[in-house]
Amino acid sequence: MKKIVIAIDGFSSSGKSTMAKDLAKEIGYIYIDTGAMYRAVTLYCLNNNIISEKGIDLEQLKEKIGQIHIQFKNNKQTGERETYLNSINVESEIRKMDVANWVSPIAAIGFVRKALVALQQKMGESKGIVMDGRDIGTVVFPQAELKIFITASPEIRAKRRAEELQAKGEQVFYTEVLKNIKKRDHIDSTREESPLKQAPDAIVLDNSRMTIDEQKAWLLVQYKKAVKE
Ligand code: DC
Repeated sequence: MKKIVIAIDGFSSSGKSTMAKDLAKEIGYIYIDTGAMYRAVTLYCLNNNIISEKGIDLEQLKEKIGQIHIQFKNNKQTGERETYLNSINVESEIRKMDVANWVSPIAAIGFVRKALVALQQKMGESKGIVMDGRDIGTVVFPQAELKIFITASPEIRAKRRAEELQAKGEQVFYTEVLKNIKKRDHIDSTREESPLKQAPDAIVLDNSRMTIDEQKAWLLVQYKKAVKE
């Protein structure tokens, strides 16, 4: 069967990653979480004093961007792909609130996007990938054979995200998560560099009232249609 590129874009915590990951597993594709890449750059900045109370030191980040190496490796026990920053597994650290609080401004920086988009395009060269993010169908792979845009209300997304973080043992409040999500939506969709927007040829899914199984089944149908075309 022909291999295609599947681009899944949408708002923060809309369930994109869960859907993309499940589909990749089901059809034997490689899953690439581009949000994790922006999060890894943010973690690097937090750990190297590029982010401080004064804000983001752009000069220093520009100087260091070539030294930030991001990879995904399979965890043999769980079968999940995990994010590595300069050869260190940072999968759980990049999901924490301090990273979430800084990732949108980092992802709005032009030279950061340029570096990560180039890496993403290289990762998808041989097709057979499911990539999720904000600009996959518009900037990274405008020729993707299947483009999906996922949305859900901010309240539902905050509820899902708070429960996910609480299940991992993080002390978070729903109101704090909702505030973070609304702020990220705003920065992500109004930034100058590749703002979050729906590609004209994307199929839109509002999953506010859908179960994970329903979303999974819906996506599989879209994939089957796309490979037939
Ligand atoms: O999907 P996520 O919440 O892990 O993404 C983290 C941040 O990275 C989010 O605020 C937007 C940004 N991002 C982006 O600008 N472009 C992408 N392709 C993926 C994520």
